Amino acid sequence: MPSADIKILAIESSCDETSAAIAVNGKVLNNIIATQSVHENYGGVVPELASRAHQQNIVPVVDEALKGAEIPKEELSAVAFTRGPGLMGALLVGASFAKATALALDIPLIEVNHMQAHILAHFIDDPKPSFPFLCLTVSGGHTQIVLVKDHLTMEVVGETQDDAVGEAFDKAAKMLGLGYPGGPMVDKLAKTGDPSKFQFSKTEMPGLSYSFSGIKTSILYFLRDELKKDENFIKDNVNDLCASIQHALVEMLLQKLRKAARQFKVNQIAIAGGVSANSGLRNALSEMADKEGWEVFIPAFEYCTDNAGMIAMAAHFKYEKKEFVDQSVSALPRMKI
Ligand code: KG4
Ligand code: ZN
Repeated sequence: MPSADIKILAIESSCDETSAAIAVNGKVLNNIIATQSVHENYGGVVPELASRAHQQNIVPVVDEALKGAEIPKEELSAVAFTRGPGLMGALLVGASFAKATALALDIPLIEVNHMQAHILAHFIDDPKPSFPFLCLTVSGGHTQIVLVKDHLTMEVVGETQDDAVGEAFDKAAKMLGLGYPGGPMVDKLAKTGDPSKFQFSKTEMPGLSYSFSGIKTSILYFLRDELKKDENFIKDNVNDLCASIQHALVEMLLQKLRKAARQFKVNQIAIAGGVSANSGLRNALSEMADKEGWEVFIPAFEYCTDNAGMIAMAAHFKYEKKEFVDQSVSALPRMKI
């Protein structure tokens, strides 16, 4: 029998993590994440392999989440899933599983936008931002500045016109011969490097738009020219290269964020998504916050990269508003905020 408590099972399968979490009355209890290591050999996520791995992982991951939270599935109030954005085949696994679960248990079904969920990860733990706030959402697939007016009312005010910043980190890492995903590796090696050693040209973009394809090409040509002169160039300069690349990318991110904060007169600033784990970004953000008088919010590491905890949090807010969907719902790879 469903109890008076709101107990939601949430599933995330948009990219290469299969994750399930439970929220009880808006408190996230058990966030289980199965990371797919199969992609490491390919230097990027292989969509077909991601779908297959989700198919294998989903039952044990959901079982573990329910067991850990000590909630029998008969007590669930609703089941939620990531509808998009993400990889079609990967999303379909979570969507189909959630639909079947809702049907079997005769409980409501809730669709969640992955990018909204990254932002709502800020409501899992204290301190929580107050409205309106700006969130810089930076992941492998997205780079957006979002004006958050309410839990479920958000407006994208700036975004990348080409690559995402996480992709720029990963591609730069690949050029340097560091494995996949490269972002965390660049972060680690940058710690003992000189951020002002090398400069790369950036594309100037109007308003609050970003572009990361220009700097990516600039890094590629720079390395190619230096390697012609000295074949050990990367090996001998890897820390300085990582620090300089990270510095350039972080500077691009924060310059537009400051512009947005001034334009919308907002001093509550949040970051979300996988790249928000970057220590260079965190440090530079807190320095800028001191100068600009911002209050800054960064989610716990576990909730920065893809996870179902954030899907459960978003689903809780939707449950409160009775925003349910029926069985005709399907995955939406290009879902917008
Ligand atoms: O949000 P996320 O887990 O998945 C997507 O929805 O894309 O983000 C993954 C991205 C990858 O590009 C990864 O390299 C990057 O986040 N990333 C980092 C760091 N940790 C993860 N980039 C820079 N520094 C890090 N410490
Ligand atoms: Zn993500």
